[in-house]
Amino acid sequence: MTASALPLPDSVDAVIALLATQNYVCDRRLATALFLSLKLQRPLFVEGEPGVGKTELAKTLSRALGTLMLRVQCYEGLDVAQTAYEWNVARQMIEIRLAEAAHQVNDAGDKTRLAQNLYARSMLIERPLLQALTQAQSPVLLIDELDRADEPFDAFLLEVLAENQITVPELGTIRATAPPITIITSNRTREIHDALKRRCLYHWVEFPSVERELEIVRLKAPGASDRLYVQVVEFVQRMRTLDLFKAPGVAETIDWTNALVALNAFSLDPATVQDTLGVLLKYQDDIVKLQSGDTAKLLDELRARALLE
Ligand SMILES: Nc1ncnc2c1ncn2[C@@H]1O[C@H](COP(=O)(O)OP(=O)(O)OP(=O)(O)O)[C@@H](O)[C@H]1O
Ligand SMILES: [Mg+2]
Repeated sequence: MTASALPLPDSVDAVIALLATQNYVCDRRLATALFLSLKLQRPLFVEGEPGVGKTELAKTLSRALGTLMLRVQCYEGLDVAQTAYEWNVARQMIEIRLAEAAHQVNDAGDKTRLAQNLYARSMLIERPLLQALTQAQSPVLLIDELDRADEPFDAFLLEVLAENQITVPELGTIRATAPPITIITSNRTREIHDALKRRCLYHWVEFPSVERELEIVRLKAPGASDRLYVQVVEFVQRMRTLDLFKAPGVAETIDWTNALVALNAFSLDPATVQDTLGVLLKYQDDIVKLQSGDTAKLLDELRARALLE
């Protein structure tokens, strides 16, 4: 079975509809990028602010297509052994001991046979990148937060992304039976290598519009009143225009709505906002900024627009 054997959406509208089945609200530009990446079988490279739905996109896609998701969570020092494969050294040692015990390591022929056994495919422990190439049905391969890995990892990924293959020096080249649908995310704490970007389709995920964010919070944080949803989203959207060290993402809007519902709040008021700022903002300087005047200013603005009593 190949990637085309999966029930892939055949239009941009079909992508939007497919993701909507799993409660993912996808705008047309992102849906177009995803549609093209599926159609052209090219990895999709998504960058954007934290908490705007990059990781969720890959998770949603695998659920919607009913296919396996394999994930490489990137961090500093990540290497081939953790992401692609490593030799099963314990099993290799046992193999050597057994051969020695059976007196099967006498001449050159024995040694060649033993070496072949030691570096057989069955001695390989498959990590997510290799697993992604050896599935019968195309999986979704999520390479998450690539900017956290060191630059040499970009170079290693080139072969996987461009050729859908991994070369194991002792064994040869392993090619994908069903090419994975690859989604790479980054928060842009460093620039990803141009050669790698060139092999991907690129999309920058913006903060959503008011309408789209309202749709997301209604789906992901049920239980609030219509009025509260509007107040929360309008407040957060205005917060993003302030000069904050770290503006709240969609994830924070969802968390804040859930927090307000848990506190039985029906409408925003200064005390509730001040007391729950830690759900929205994760830097003390930002919290102080909001506490010293900006909260009152934003609430006044909502009131002036008749969104608040
Ligand atoms: N368009 C969307 N539709 C539905 N849910 C969304 C959408 N965007 C974000 N979310 C929700 O917001 C939360 C955060 O999303 P996610 O973890 O994918 O963000 P991210 O961009 O990967 O952030 P980070 O860079 O911090 O990893 C998730 O709970 C997800 O369900
Ligand atoms: Mg993420």
